[in-house]
Amino acid sequence: MGYAILFGASAALLFGLFYWSTAGFMRQQSDATIQAEAAGLAERYRVEGLDGLTAAIEERLLRAPSTASIYLFAGPGHQRIVGNLTGWPEGTPDAGGWVDFRLTDPSGEADEARGGEPRAARARTFRLAEGYSLLVGRDMQELDALQARTVRTLTWGVGLTALLALAGGALVSYSTGRRLSTINAAIDEIMSGELSRRLPTRGVGDELDLLAGNVNRMLTSIERAMDDVRRVSDNVAHDLRTPLTRLRNRLETLRAETGPGTEEAVVSAIQEADGLLQTFNALLRIARVEARQRTDGFSEVDLQSIVTDAAELYGPVAEARGQHLEVAIAPVPALVGDADLLFQALVNLLDNAVKYGPEGGDVRLSLSAVGSTATIAVEDNGPGIAEELRDDALRRFWRGDHSRTSPGSGLGLSLVEAVANLHAADLALEDAGPGLRVVLRLPIQ
Ligand SMILES: Nc1ncnc2c1ncn2[C@@H]1O[C@H](COP(=O)(O)OP(=O)(O)O)[C@@H](O)[C@H]1O
Ligand SMILES: [Mg+2]
Repeated sequence: MGYAILFGASAALLFGLFYWSTAGFMRQQSDATIQAEAAGLAERYRVEGLDGLTAAIEERLLRAPSTASIYLFAGPGHQRIVGNLTGWPEGTPDAGGWVDFRLTDPSGEADEARGGEPRAARARTFRLAEGYSLLVGRDMQELDALQARTVRTLTWGVGLTALLALAGGALVSYSTGRRLSTINAAIDEIMSGELSRRLPTRGVGDELDLLAGNVNRMLTSIERAMDDVRRVSDNVAHDLRTPLTRLRNRLETLRAETGPGTEEAVVSAIQEADGLLQTFNALLRIARVEARQRTDGFSEVDLQSIVTDAAELYGPVAEARGQHLEVAIAPVPALVGDADLLFQALVNLLDNAVKYGPEGGDVRLSLSAVGSTATIAVEDNGPGIAEELRDDALRRFWRGDHSRTSPGSGLGLSLVEAVANLHAADLALEDAGPGLRVVLRLPIQ
């Protein structure tokens, strides 16, 4: 409706303007013709006097007896001398000598044909010497008819435009309304728990499609997050059940045989409890890192000393497994970050390399900088992680099949990823052929 009103109003305005300018122009043209004819007659009058004027009018009437031109040359009492007008019109001319009047047709036939409405005319009047006067004018009938026709046409035009606008508006709001209601229906389904449902798009790339696409992407990430939450709670329940059961069993045995084996049982129960605590701590730490605002508590970090410290810490551990830890540290400009977290992440990577690399194997640790990127890489020559499992390896509690026998809870790489995200760094698990290479690319601000 609003669309139709706006459209109709603009069409009316446009047509009105058009009418006003054409009608004005036509009236001007008609007045100019009258002026020109009057000027011709005036010239004859000036040169040849009253007789000349009379002759001139007669000539014109003879030459074109049925034109729209009107002439009347009248004597002192306005009585007709010559002209095609029966009598001097009623009404007083305006300051410019112009007068608008009605033509009374002597026969009256023409009037009746037009429903008794007498024809309109417009003329210029002149006062001549000795009470004589002259009237030169035009029958305005045609002009009026043309104007009336124009008005009719324009009115229809405005009406039609408004109608079309109404139809167009209805069509647009109908199709938009229909799409919105399908979208609303989809949202209702999603809200009722069908998280995998997506908003429909028409594939035309308009605003609604863009909006639906964005909402769909948002839904995908929400779904993934929900999935993660579910997986984590499943895993927590599952992974903690085993050590808790063992702990319980040990305490049970302890109660039954408070004898020589007691101390051993207590020690292993304590170890089990420690493992549980570690898992919880790791989970909490990841959650905290993930919840942190970027640059919160950041300071200038010297990567070289972090890498050196980690290498010193893990050199002996590697040696204990007969492994060789190879360290290559290039000078790297200082960057802004969290030194403790970076150190922890590096320790987790070294721990994996030493733990999953073969006995007597090699572990390589390197630090380098290219352009505005500092790169830390940890590489071993163990079994590595199959390419299709590398994404899973970053998830909480995921542990490879070959790792079931080694200690750990599957949270080390999750923390590394959280730390990488916090530092806007890129974390990549690559094939070292054989073995795994983990590369952390940190931007230097
Ligand atoms: N260097 C590596 N070589 C082979 N497998 C690895 C390596 N690092 C990690 N993994 C695999 O990824 C899994 C997840 O690692 P992580 O998150 O550190 O947990 P965790 O070490 O406690 O098992 C490990 O269980 C292991 O299967
Ligand atoms: Mg680990």
